[in-house]
Formats: sequence, C-alpha cells, structure tokens
Amino acid sequence: MSFNVSSRLSRGQSVIAIAGATGNLGMVIARTLLSHTYRPFFSRVVVLTRDSASQNARMLADLGADVHVLWGDIHDALRSALRGVDVLINALGRAPGSEVPDALIQIAAEARVALYFPSEFGVDHRSSSFGAAEPQVWSLKREHENKARAALGAVGAQVVCVYVGIFPNYLGVLGFDRENRTILAPGSPTQRLSVTSQVDLVRTLVELSFLCMSPVTTASVPSHVHITGDVVSVADILALLELGAGGNVTVRGPDEQERDFPWLRRLMSSFAARELASAGKLDFSGDNDNDLVNPGQRGWKWATVAEYVQEKKTL
Ligand SMILES: NC(=O)c1ccc[n+]([C@@H]2O[C@H](COP(=O)([O-])OP(=O)(O)OC[C@H]3O[C@@H](n4cnc5c(N)ncnc54)[C@H](OP(=O)(O)O)[C@@H]3O)[C@@H](O)[C@H]2O)c1
Repeated sequence: MSFNVSSRLSRGQSVIAIAGATGNLGMVIARTLLSHTYRPFFSRVVVLTRDSASQNARMLADLGADVHVLWGDIHDALRSALRGVDVLINALGRAPGSEVPDALIQIAAEARVALYFPSEFGVDHRSSSFGAAEPQVWSLKREHENKARAALGAVGAQVVCVYVGIFPNYLGVLGFDRENRTILAPGSPTQRLSVTSQVDLVRTLVELSFLCMSPVTTASVPSHVHITGDVVSVADILALLELGAGGNVTVRGPDEQERDFPWLRRLMSSFAARELASAGKLDFSGDNDNDLVNPGQRGWKWATVAEYVQEKKTL
C-alpha cells in the first residue's frame, strides 16, 4: 500500500457512496469497498438503488452497505441518501432520459460532497474525432461532466474523470468473437491498447479519494486521470489465447471484417471504441497516472490480461 495502514485508518471517517451499485461495474465497486481490506477506511458505504428488493441490493445490504432507495421524489430521496457523504462514485449505466444523473449532481452539490467521480471508466472519448456521428453515450457523458463541473465546482468540490481503457471481461466489444474463436482486429494487430481490471479501478478510486481528501495532496490529483493496468495488442492476445486457451484462433484484418462482419458498424459504441483503439488512442502506456495512485506498484500489482486468460481460459 502506498499509504501506511495507520495513516489510512485515521482517515476512516469518510463516507463513500455509489450510484448504480447494483450494476455490472457497480457491484464490483461496492463489494470491493465492503471487503475486509477496504471497509475500515470508510465510516459508511452508502449504496443508491431504485429497487432495494433486487438480489444485488439485498446482497450488498447483507455485506453491510447502507442501502438507500431512490423512489418517490427523487430529489428528496437523494437528499436523504447523500447526507454526510464525502465521496460519490457514479457507476450508473446508460440512462438517457432518466432524471437521476442530473439530480445526483445537483443534490451532491447541495450536500457538499467533496469528490465526485462521473460514470466514465472506459475510453477517453475526448480524443474522438467523430463529431456529430459519435455514439450518444459519449455525448451524454461529456454533457454530464460539464454539468457536474459547473454544479460541484461552484461549491469547491473536485470532479475527477477516470479512464482505464477496456476491462478484460469487456474485450469482446472490440471484436473478439468467442463462439467462432475469431479476433476481428481493430486496425493493426500490433497496435496496443490499455486494459485494466475492475478491481484495480476500485483500488484507484480509493487512492484518489485519499489523495483528494488530504489537504496536502489534493492539488496533485488532475481532473482527468488515465490508468493502464496492462497494455496488449491483438497479437499478444492471440498468443495468450493460443497458449492458455487451447489454440485455433483466427485473426481477421479490417478488409475482411467490412465484408464478413457488417454488423460491427451497427454497434456504434463498439465500432467507435475500435476506431480509437486502431488510432492508438486507447494506449495510455506513454502518458498515465499509474504512479500517482500506485507508485512503483508498491500498493498492489496491476492485474494482467495474461492472468485473466489463464484464469478464465478465454476472453
Ligand atoms: N471500460 C470498459 O470496458 C467498460 C465496460 C462496461 C461499462 N463501462 C462503464 O462503466 C459504467 C457503468 O456501466 P455498467 O455496464 O456497469 O452499468 P449497468 O450495469 O448498465 O447499470 C448500472 C446501474 O445503473 C442503474 N440504472 C440503469 N438505468 C437507469 C436509469 N434509467 N435511471 C436510473 N438508474 C439507472 C441501475 O441501478 P438500480 O436498478 O439499482 O437503480 C443499474 O444497476 C458506465 O460508465 C460504462 O460506460 C466500462
């Protein structure tokens, strides 16, 4: 750990909240924060959900989460949920048309939340050149970030967007056709891209929370943080799969993909992420904040794609 344990424990007065905690990523965040390793560093772990009776919400309650239900007047529900919260992680999924994301930042500002992580946790879409043709999810994320900076910045809170590349369990969106054991390489098979495990993202969020909550280190945290647990190319992944998952994997180049897999273009966010990957914009290895959150890997060892393939025997 980059902080010594006693220094961390003395900070165990902060309250951390997760919106979207019952989701795919949210569950990993909430469960990790509720684990023996991280629970002592926060006085409360608050979970926001629209349905406290769901299996995931009940599981988090059993693990010790302080579950708050977003029902009735959403602003009142959020006022009650965010009372006393210092750090707010937004892990909401796509919610076009939902009033929750806007209300979340408005009430977070009212509640004087000190640090807010918008629901980013993927590609740095600011480097996209799609203009009007970019996926709606990216424009919604940017719009939300701007609103968050205006509302929370006005009360002196920090807003930190964290980009981690692709999670290993989501590499399929870039064109890994498991069923047919085919890799649709986004651009050159040797172009590398950043892959970070979800648990390493949570560790990063905890470290950033400590850095932001301390007056000594708060200024060291940038508004946009890039993390890269591992950097791999399609060729590397191919080698790993052949070694670790039984071989017989085919790689198809871009021309064949246009001809044989036209549906790829229709999956706009996957297609757009592939375009960024092929342009080298998903490779954060040259410029990242790994050493800010985990100097010299003294806090933890970043998980690798090789370890993931070895464990799962696939992607
Ligand atoms: N880098 C990567 O490879 C990668 C991969 C996947 C996702 N991500 C990012 O991680 C973040 C979370 O994605 P996810 O897939 O984990 O999300 P998700 O599972 O689709 O949704 C998370 C939670 O959001 C809440 N929610 C969904 N729709 C809502 C609505 N209309 N109004 C209010 N609440 C709503 C739900 O909670 P309740 O039902 O409990 O209210 C849901 O459990 C996103 O920013 C996504 O882009 C990154």
